[in-house]
Amino acid sequence: MHKQDIVNIILQQQNKSYLNITAQDFACSNIALIKYWGKKNNILNIPNNDSLSVPLGNKGAIVSIKISNQEQYYLNSQLLDINHIFFNRLKTFLDLFRIANNYYIVDIQCNIPIAAGLASSACIFAAIIKVLAKLFAWNLNHEQLSILARLGSGSACRSIHDGFVLWQAGKDKNGMDSFATNFAPLFEDLRIGLLIIDKKPKIISSTAAMELTRQTSLFYDKWQEIVNADLAQIKHAILTIDFAKLGQIAEYNSLAMHACMLTSRPTILYSQNATIALMHKVWQLRNSGLSIFFTQDAGANLKLLFLQQDVIQIKKHFPQIEIINPHNKMIIT
Ligand code: PMV
Repeated sequence: MHKQDIVNIILQQQNKSYLNITAQDFACSNIALIKYWGKKNNILNIPNNDSLSVPLGNKGAIVSIKISNQEQYYLNSQLLDINHIFFNRLKTFLDLFRIANNYYIVDIQCNIPIAAGLASSACIFAAIIKVLAKLFAWNLNHEQLSILARLGSGSACRSIHDGFVLWQAGKDKNGMDSFATNFAPLFEDLRIGLLIIDKKPKIISSTAAMELTRQTSLFYDKWQEIVNADLAQIKHAILTIDFAKLGQIAEYNSLAMHACMLTSRPTILYSQNATIALMHKVWQLRNSGLSIFFTQDAGANLKLLFLQQDVIQIKKHFPQIEIINPHNKMIIT
């Protein structure tokens, strides 16, 4: 099946015409504590393994869409040229939902760096789906919205939800059971710190990198085993509200994903010297008693996990940190 078939199935009972001419919504980014790395279907973004994430509060994308006879995409107030790589990604996705001779004018305001391993595509595609749902007044549940967002970017399916979010890989070959759900409420005092090392776009896209790993790393099967074990343990840590356990597993899972990438041919290394230096700093501080952990995605930047009670200490040790309260949601009506 193609993306259009999935869209048609999900929308078959829904309004086929616009109820509104313009709409706006926000979706936050999400950071995986148990990572998704590798797809079993590259067209439909169906992952090989389950993953689990936390939302990034008010860090994400506000998307406004207007129905028009023109096609224009703005990213952070810049009109995207037809040759811009993101133009094509947006167009291919939005064309799945276009009606007759109508086009979309899309304005995306993203308050995190784009394509730098901070899940910018997750929030952008999730926000687009939320806005389209408003334009058409679709009556879809969160699981269906999550599947539609997944067609734009895999991890976008997790940005439809709040709390600790679980994306089940699913068994259906067309991915109709590959969606995210809320697993449990977030720990009240959980905080996330962004350590931005490099705002530039990543050296290799996550799509290309995960496919290279899947095809060439001899450790890929082992990675799948590790994910299953880590997921079982982190679920237990969440349900027993055990932050230290959660942090240990998240950090280990991230390192295992990057270790697996390193064994790809050619190798994939997103870390820079500053990334490694910060990892050592986290380990040093942890050895001296601070409950702090990191996770890293497809980029050089690190995200720290810690509790509200340690915020003063964390700010002292990482003056450049941006601290996020994942509970602080931006609400747009
Ligand atoms: O959905 P994508 O193509 O941005 O891939 C996300 C990959 C990781 O961020 C490394 C892991 C994850 O689960 O978010």
